[in-house]
Parts: sequence; structure tokens; C-alpha cells
Amino acid sequence: MIPSCLTLQLTPFFPSPLLPVNRLSLLPSSTFPAFAAKSRRLAFAATKAPSISTMAAEQENVGNLKRKLAKLFQLSLDATVPGEPDIEPQVAACTAKFGDYQCNNAMGLWSKIKGRPGIEFRGPPAVGQAIMKNLPQSEMIESCSVAGPGFVNVVLSKNWMAQNIQKMLVDGIETWAPKLSIKRAVVDFSSPNIAKEMHVGHLRSTIIGDTLASMLEFSNVEVLRRNHVGDWGTQFGMLIEFLFEKFPNFEDVNETAIGDLQAFYKESKQRFDVDAEFKDRAQKAVVRLQSGEQMYRKAWAQICEISRREFDQVYQRLGVHLEEKGESFYNPHIPGVIEALTNQGLVEESKGARVIFIEGINIPLIVVKSDGGYNYASTDMTALWYRLNEEKAEWIIYVTDVGQQQHFDMVFKAAKRAGWFPADDRQYPKASHVGFGLVLGEDGKRFRTRSSEVVRLADLLDEAKTRSKAALIERGKAAEWTEEELEQTAEAVGYGAVKYADLKNNRLTNYTFDFDQMLNDKGNTAVYLLYAHARICSIIRKSGKDTEELKKTGKIVLDHADERVLGLHLLQFAEVVEEACSNLLPNVLCEYLYNLSENFTRFYSNCQVVGSAEETSRLLLCEATAVVMRKCFFLLGIKPVYKI
Ligand code: ARG
Repeated sequence: MIPSCLTLQLTPFFPSPLLPVNRLSLLPSSTFPAFAAKSRRLAFAATKAPSISTMAAEQENVGNLKRKLAKLFQLSLDATVPGEPDIEPQVAACTAKFGDYQCNNAMGLWSKIKGRPGIEFRGPPAVGQAIMKNLPQSEMIESCSVAGPGFVNVVLSKNWMAQNIQKMLVDGIETWAPKLSIKRAVVDFSSPNIAKEMHVGHLRSTIIGDTLASMLEFSNVEVLRRNHVGDWGTQFGMLIEFLFEKFPNFEDVNETAIGDLQAFYKESKQRFDVDAEFKDRAQKAVVRLQSGEQMYRKAWAQICEISRREFDQVYQRLGVHLEEKGESFYNPHIPGVIEALTNQGLVEESKGARVIFIEGINIPLIVVKSDGGYNYASTDMTALWYRLNEEKAEWIIYVTDVGQQQHFDMVFKAAKRAGWFPADDRQYPKASHVGFGLVLGEDGKRFRTRSSEVVRLADLLDEAKTRSKAALIERGKAAEWTEEELEQTAEAVGYGAVKYADLKNNRLTNYTFDFDQMLNDKGNTAVYLLYAHARICSIIRKSGKDTEELKKTGKIVLDHADERVLGLHLLQFAEVVEEACSNLLPNVLCEYLYNLSENFTRFYSNCQVVGSAEETSRLLLCEATAVVMRKCFFLLGIKPVYKI
């Protein structure tokens, strides 16, 4: 699929806004001598020795149980088979009744070493036994056993678990943050197109991108939250001409005069399609805009500004922060980057265009069109170059619908050919495309309004809020709460529901947009989760105890089976958030959150909290659950509510 910003192609398309029109042919490198030299240097610097390191770091993460156990098993594996130093421990959480975690190396190891001289093992179970025997003493482990064909099961010490939850309560949930080995990342998300509708696809990108950015930020990575808006391209010629025509005093025009920018776009497109004279003017306007003619630049800036204000309203409501660097930003850098690629021998002539061929893909990446103009790919190659070399980002993440997967695949592979990335995909710097599926309506088709128009995001958010407010009023909250509380809760629940319904699915699958389902207070919904959190807060409130005090003086014990299950789940937050972040899968965190609230419910039904002998410990468990839930909400961009 071609990105929506490219659907309208006019010819001729002239490349750079900063170049005089008559010099636009194929952009000789001399046009940008200084830049070209610089870009060449940087491009080649990237080929040599990029400072790289592997995924998710060897660094200690105090909270990550799986990683802690893997370290112990590493020592054991080294001792068990000294001749095989590079065996990676395979440790996984398990639900079997024999343990909390298991090490699964025995079978693989056996097939590697069997028959070798000096090997005394008689099959995988014996290897498992040896791995267990060689496991160093650790306060975190209560007991071990070997099951079946050599699985080593580990039961964690409940005292150790309790102590670590308590430690988190005192030192803060940040101590459970993933430790990644990178310092800076770019997340390119949302990225709607100026003067066109911001549709549910952009909503998905905004919601998913925001969560990924937040997870990386939580992991102490500096994130450049990039809004790569489609603010450049041939459609502007048409829009500008139409603006001049409709509003001779265009400088005074604002959004109230233009009204709906999307309708304005449609109208001008209609004109463009039927009126040859207008079309001609529009094409000339593109040239005049790109050559930097003031009046055209002004009109362009104005159209962008009107769109921007509309986008910002949506971002504000969603509580999402983005920094705009639109396509136009990279324009002046394109010639230099293409020249550097050409000098490396990567750019070839094909059917009048200039292209980069990529192994295994039968179409090449067009970086200069046959009319000399640039396109989406030229901009993306340049933006990637800029992000790597100017912004020094080590991980560059793009969040768009899966339809753009091939585009990014080609861009990344071209960059790899240019030596911008190391050969090993697991190493940084690297780029990842985070694709997502379609949002469907209840009819199973692309989500549209009844009159099959694109759904306006503002309308959609309005409806979510209205519905959640109605549900609160039905529960009698209008009488109990102030109007402000009602409004705020309705927003938190309504917008939270929209976000969670999106994030809880594996992002690659399509999902059906269904208000009734997402606003249901039962099942795996934000409403259910927010209520669960509010309930925990109310338990703590009603106890009359100060958790800040309890944290210092009280002690957690995990004697009851349901306390232990809840405690283990709490402790697994660190490894889950690390997995969700490293694999760019928000649904992993959603699933964790849902299970957390299920585990809490079971604990709360079976273990009396207030007034019991274990009150202090149990209140602390309530508090730890609330803390972890809130961090999950925060990472998912959902505002917690404290009372229901
Ligand atoms: N504007 C594009 C669209 O609406 C998305 C841009 C994504 N980012 C990028 N660097 N290409 O489809």
C-alpha cells in the first residue's frame, strides 16, 4: 500500500524547496558541497565501527527474576560442561506445579555432547541432574527438582520474594525498570498528513507509539518522539491555489474561515481533477512553493498551522506528547544523502529513475523519480540518515500500518547496504518497523461512519467520553461527585477504554472497534482494570492506615497460596515490561496487567485484609499491587482513577 500522503501524485514534482527551479534536474553534488562532504564522512563513519552493543544489556536489573536465574544457570552450565563455554541458559517462567521457573537446557545440551569422549552422562535427565547439582547456592531459591527429560524446576523462596516486593515499595518501582544498552531512540509515530484526515490508523499509531516511547523512557532511554507529518508534496500546489482563489486575503484566514480543512482538501481535489487550467496553476504553484517564493511558503505554512492545531487537540485529549519534524524538514538534506549513496555505488539508473536495488525484492527502492523529483522513500532514507548521524539515535522505531512494511523493509535494507547498520540484526544501531492491522467496524469492514466517511477522531473520543459519563451517572455518581470529578473520571475511563482496546491485541491483527465491548466493566477492558485499581485504593483508604508508615515498619509475608501467586506475579513485572519493550509488543504488558488484577481478585476473595492478623502484610500487598498497576496504566497512557 502506498502511504496515504502519496496517493495524490502530480507531475512534474520538483525536489527541493531551497533550490532554484532551473537547477533541479538531477541535483549535482556541487549544489551542496559542504553538506555532501559532511554526509559522506558520516555515512562512511557509520560503516566502520558503529558503537554497538547487544540487546537488553548484560547489566544487572535488580527486579528481573528471569535474568537473575539465568545468571545462576550460566554458572551451573559452565561447571556442568566446561568444554562448552557459550551455552545460553534457557530459563522460562512456568505454571507447572513443580516450580515457578524452569531451565530447559538439558535436552539440547545432551544432543550436542552425547558420544563425545569423556562425557559420562547417560541421557538428558542426567544432564538435568548435573545442572541442578551445579547450581550455586542462592537466597532466592527455595528448592529445585528435575522433571521429565531433564527440566530443572526452581521454586523461589517466598521470604526472598516478600523482601524484594517490600524493597520495591521503599525504593520505588523505577528499580524494576528494564535496563537497555542504548541511550537514545527515535520513535516515529502518529504522523498524519497535513490537510487530510487523521484517521483511526493514525490513532493506532499514536496509541501504540506513545506506549512504546513510554516504555523506553521508563527504561532510561532518551526518546525523540517524532511526528513525521506529511507536510510536503505535490498536493500543496493545489491547496495553495485553492486558498488564493477562495480567500484573496489569505493571510487573515484561520481555521474558522476555512472551516473543515478536510472538506477544503476534497473540494480543491475535485477542482484539480476536472479543471485543466486549475491543475496547471496548481502544478506551477508546487514549483513556486518549492523554489521558496514567499507568498507560497506563507500559504503553505498557514495550511500546516491549521492542521497542526487540529492534530494538537487530539493529542491533548489523549495526553500524548510528540515533537513535530515533518517531511519538509528533511528536504534540504536529501541531495547530500543521495549523493553519498551514489558515491558508494548504490544508486543505479532504472527506467529514467534513480534507484537502489535490494537483494530478494524484485522492485527497487526509487530514490529519485524519473522527473527528477523526490518521493516518500527519498525522505525516509534521509530522515534515517539524519536520525543516525545528526541525532545519534541507536534505535529507530517506526509505527505505521502493516501496509507500509515493505517500504520500511526496503529502506532498512538499503541503509544496511550503505553500511549504516551492522551486519548482525541484533546489534545497534538498528531500525524496527512496528506494523499494526486495521481497525474494523462492526460489519467487519474498515471502520467508517454510517455514510462511509472517515471517522473523525474528535467525534470518536467525544462518544467514548459521553458513554462512560452516562455509565457513571447511571451508577449514581452525579449525586456523589462534583461535576469536575465526574468529567475527569469520564475522560480517564472513556479514553482509557479506547486505548486499551487497541493495545491489548497483538498489534499485527485487525481488531473491531466496539464501544459496548470496550466500555464493559467486566472482562479484559480498561474499565474493569481501572475499577479494580480504584477498589484497591478504597481498601487501603478504609483501613485507615498510612501505607508510607507501614512500608517502613511492617513486613510482607507470603504464606497463603494466593498471596504467593500474587507476590510472584508482582515480581514478574520487571521481566514482562522488559519483554514488551524489547519486542515492541504492548499487548504483553496488557496481558500482564489483566492477570495481575485477576490474581489480586483471587487473593482478596480468599484472604481477609482489614481486621485480620496479617493486616499489615496484606495492606502492603494491596499497595504493591496498586503501585504496579499504576505503572502499567502510565506506560499504556491510561490515567488511573482512585475512586469509583
Ligand atoms: N504520513 C504517513 C502516513 O500517513 C506516515 C509516516 C510514517 N513515518 C515515516 N517516517 N514514513 O501514512
